[in-house]
Amino acid sequence: MALSISTTTTGAATATAVISLILLLLLPPSYCYEFVPDSDANLIEVALNLEFLETEFFLYGALGHGLDSIAPSLAAGGPPPIGGTQAKLDALVKDVILQFGLQEVGHLRAIKSTVRGFPRPLLNISAEVFAKVMNSAIGRNLEPPFNPYDNELNFLLASYVIPYVGLTGYVGANPNLQSFAAKRLVAGLLGVESGQDAVIRGMLYRQATATVDPYGISVANFTDRISELRDRLGCDGLKDEGLIVPEAEGAEGKISGNVLAGDKNSLSYDRTPEEILRIVYGSGDEHVPGGFYPMGANGQIAKSYLQRP
Ligand SMILES: *[C@@H]1O[C@H](CO)[C@@H](O)[C@H](O)[C@H]1NC(C)=O
Ligand SMILES: *[C@@H]1O[C@H](CO)[C@@H](O)[C@H](O)[C@H]1NC(C)=O
Repeated sequence: MALSISTTTTGAATATAVISLILLLLLPPSYCYEFVPDSDANLIEVALNLEFLETEFFLYGALGHGLDSIAPSLAAGGPPPIGGTQAKLDALVKDVILQFGLQEVGHLRAIKSTVRGFPRPLLNISAEVFAKVMNSAIGRNLEPPFNPYDNELNFLLASYVIPYVGLTGYVGANPNLQSFAAKRLVAGLLGVESGQDAVIRGMLYRQATATVDPYGISVANFTDRISELRDRLGCDGLKDEGLIVPEAEGAEGKISGNVLAGDKNSLSYDRTPEEILRIVYGSGDEHVPGGFYPMGANGQIAKSYLQRP
């Protein structure tokens, strides 16, 4: 009797397994599970922090509201950002920045469909945070304080601060990825991220010699100082270049115009997760959160540095 029940159960289990297999084969390919090892997920999750920052900064700048009104499910209940506001932008810059903001929404969705991810971390995108970045970059307190939301030039200079960091992070992550799914995702993100950086640099390059009012500092010098600041915070050598450089640092050591940053073979510089965190925290220390991330970034790598001993 017991034996007969057991046989029936096994038969039912086999039938269920066969039906499941058939159903699995009938599903469209996008439902196929693609394996992403933890080491890949951890690297991608560092970038997810930056993508949240870019999403909010660009959407707020263009529209005066952010992810919570565009795609609230992607915020997954994370706290709303602090201090974002609509920037005073001309039609062209507003159009471009809105495109960037919406592209970032896609990036968030793509990342979250590849790795588990996390809710939006607390972000501080207030004018004061950018003013502090610019004061550190220039080496004195700008008066009146720099406000990214005041006009399109300021907004572009503030934008110069962010996608490039993501770009170097993707270049740094790429050789350490194991899985096909992660490599494909990171290549796709890197392409658009570097495109955003190029558009921002291109728009600034047109006015490289113009003066940023009322500070009496040229656009090129601003970018130069911001790049120097990122190198200083990253603590790992020259990986950043402004729009006009000494000829020796330009392409082939032959030109001072530097619309795109690159190493001596004009390849993009790479940065590690630690360097990225030091820069976006503004502290130069991956253990000390601040800047755009008052409570620190999320994901296994960032969290490992925030744990108190
Ligand atoms: C946002 O950053 C600014 C500049 O560091 C700071 O003064 C302000 O207190 C921050 N806001 C919050 C809520 O952390
Ligand atoms: C830009 O920087 C260079 C070199 O540091 C300096 O000679 C020049 O006066 C600066 N120009 C402006 C407008 O800031």
